[in-house]
Amino acid sequence: MHTPNVCDSGEKAMPFRASVLTLYPEMFPGPLGTSLAGRALSEGLWSLEATNIRSFATDRHRSVDDTPAGGGSGMVLRPDIVAAALDSVADGRPMLALTPRGESLTQARVRDLVSGEGLILLCGRFEGFDERIFEARPLHPVSIGDYILSGGELGAMVILDACVRLLPGVMGAASSGEEESFEAGLLEYPHYTRPVTWEGRTIPEVLRSGDHAKIATWRHARAVEDTRLRRPDLMERHGGASQAPPSSARRRDTKAKDV
Ligand SMILES: C[S@@+](CC[C@H](N)C(=O)[O-])C[C@H]1O[C@@H](n2cnc3c(N)ncnc32)[C@H](O)[C@@H]1O
Repeated sequence: MHTPNVCDSGEKAMPFRASVLTLYPEMFPGPLGTSLAGRALSEGLWSLEATNIRSFATDRHRSVDDTPAGGGSGMVLRPDIVAAALDSVADGRPMLALTPRGESLTQARVRDLVSGEGLILLCGRFEGFDERIFEARPLHPVSIGDYILSGGELGAMVILDACVRLLPGVMGAASSGEEESFEAGLLEYPHYTRPVTWEGRTIPEVLRSGDHAKIATWRHARAVEDTRLRRPDLMERHGGASQAPPSSARRRDTKAKDV
């Protein structure tokens, strides 16, 4: 039987500890308090503390930002305030700053992050951080995608959700997440469930054949085909272009007449 949160040696693992630095601590746990992550949180498989960056302000207005050097619109988070907030939680865990200027988050990075003791996540607001904070502290800039959010909090939740579901005991023995999209440099194959026929569309026959070897071959072929059509960048990155089916291959229609 799979025992939650236990190392291979049989010793009980330490919970994964997440510290979030934010101007809006009341946003947490938010969605991380429900479903898989929420259950894992209440079972102590991971812990979460949200600290208000504003509590490190030193003036009577409790200001955390100032106008951009060189002019321009918006405000910039002050490095002295942000450094004090980071120093208050720094203990060797990786420190990530949410910023569109960061390295894009990938599933490989998530696997790497979840193998450690936990994470410190710094959420930006306004125009973002004074760049000197990246020189002064071991802070890794991370982006969750090529679009602009109004703050880093949702990005921190995305990172934590991606990490927490991979913690031992969170998804249970039935799934380790190893077959999912991105794990092998491919999108996952498509799924179907009952009813067998719905609005004239039937589940592909191979999936109802009970022949596991044939099913595995079909799933791999669809994973390759869909990745080639939807995410050629993934194919390129993982050197998988040679696995692609001939260019004449077209996505299969699953209407009853075609299966
Ligand atoms: C309005 S954004 C600042 C955008 C910044 N001026 C720029 O153009 O790069 C405010 C904050 O939202 C967060 N944020 C916005 N988009 C993000 C993304 N794609 N990935 C990670 N964090 C993001 C960051 O913490 C950022 O400091």
